[in-house]
Amino acid sequence: GKRGYVVGGNWKCNGTAASAAALVETLNGAGPIPENVQVVVAVPSVHVPLVLGSLRSDIEVAAQDCGANAKCGAFTGEIFAGQLLDLGVTWVVLGHSERRAAGESSALVADKCAVAVKEGLRVMLCVGESLEEREAGLTAQVVASQLAPAAKKLSKADWGKVVIAYEPVWAIGTGKTATPDMAQETHKEIRTWMSKNVGADVAASIQIQYGGSMKGANAKGLLSKEDIDGGLIGGASLTADFFNVINGVP
Ligand code: G3H
Repeated sequence: GKRGYVVGGNWKCNGTAASAAALVETLNGAGPIPENVQVVVAVPSVHVPLVLGSLRSDIEVAAQDCGANAKCGAFTGEIFAGQLLDLGVTWVVLGHSERRAAGESSALVADKCAVAVKEGLRVMLCVGESLEEREAGLTAQVVASQLAPAAKKLSKADWGKVVIAYEPVWAIGTGKTATPDMAQETHKEIRTWMSKNVGADVAASIQIQYGGSMKGANAKGLLSKEDIDGGLIGGASLTADFFNVINGVP
């Protein structure tokens, strides 16, 4: 629709320099990208320079995390958002459920968002409920609690640099996709929450991606829904099928 689409490929912690180069070749040869789609690949940090130096210019490069410190310094193992920008990285994935499972709180994720946006990165901010939470009817509450610290930290202008990735944890890497209706319901709840807590203008314009076992075969159904403005693709982004998702936009 009216907001345009963002399709992200999250390579996660996969691959070697050789396989990353091969995947770049696959993407470079995969044909045109529809005008209403922004394509981004989130590559392992160690492969960022290789990918930036060889990937077609109509696909942007994201990091999969960045630090919460607002500067360079004595933070061993961290990557400062400004360092990513300096290389040519333009996006960062923050708050992925795999990082939340490893101990990241929504407050920490919000701090990272604020630093990333201030430095000039665009952010894919991930939220989503576990299976237990969905079965207990808590999906909307969980997603709201994950967004609330970011809403406290970010200005309306900041939100202009953010897309929200709704990724139900039970659908990630499991082959179990949310049905288009299920995903649409939660996307709408997210937009409603954003309207009440950030502003109607931001809610209307923010792009909300779906993630969780999305692939060429199920992309069209999801992307045809009113409040689904793209996807964040894990496994299928490591293959040529990623382009079937991109070409699945209405
Ligand atoms: O960030 C991507 C999501 O975790 C989805 O991963 O497509 O392998 O289920 P998946």
